[in-house]
Amino acid sequence: MRIPFIAGNWKMYKNRSEAKAFAEEFKALYGGTDVKAAVCVPFTDLDILVEAFRGTGIGVGAQNVHFEDEGAFTGEISADMLKEIGVDFCIVGHSERRQYFAETDGTVNLKVKKLLEKDIRPIMCVGESLEQRDSGVLYDFIKSQLKGGLEGISAEDAEKIVIAYEPIWAIGTGRTATPEQAEEMCAFIRGTLIEMYGEETADEVIIQYGGSVKPANATEIMNQDEIDGALVGGASLKPADLMAIIDF
Ligand code: PGA
Repeated sequence: MRIPFIAGNWKMYKNRSEAKAFAEEFKALYGGTDVKAAVCVPFTDLDILVEAFRGTGIGVGAQNVHFEDEGAFTGEISADMLKEIGVDFCIVGHSERRQYFAETDGTVNLKVKKLLEKDIRPIMCVGESLEQRDSGVLYDFIKSQLKGGLEGISAEDAEKIVIAYEPIWAIGTGRTATPEQAEEMCAFIRGTLIEMYGEETADEVIIQYGGSVKPANATEIMNQDEIDGALVGGASLKPADLMAIIDF
């Protein structure tokens, strides 16, 4: 039984006072749901949300991590540092990080392994560009991202990883994949996980869809069999919108 899981991705939005105001408002709205929720926020907001959400069941996530324990890596943050704050999740391999910060399947793989070692659940993003979709290489591409990101990871660990399917052309564009397109790829991802780990493990993995998810389209996306949740960017910045998605 997979429990639906909606995660917000604030990207580089909200300072500490805005984060605090969000947390207070969201806490008051959240409840009466079996859907799991988390918000992935800038590093500087993490402690505020951990504190505000204590005892509520709402998770807190980071958006990046370094794959080494410590060292001369100016500007980076380690998994131990996140763990010390009380972070539950961390996004890895978001397309914006792949595009602007040279994230590769290799570094994604190292980060996923480090997070698992430190007991933080990775939300590993995969997704094709519009050219890849139009030229028909999308399935091979998604499979290579999955195989690269999950290389050397055991079945037991794979169950703890959340996979977020985020077609690049649907992120922040207002152009959502149709529920059928999203379902088709999430089913393909599940199929690839079956090939890699067997049915029992693949059945446990939460697969999210991400890309212009909002209250108006959350129901039809969440009603798809192979879609277990959503990774929500823009619409996660407003407590009422995020709650409406959770209440799909
Ligand atoms: P969006 O972003 O919901 O604003 O399209 C999704 C994401 O990048 O995770």
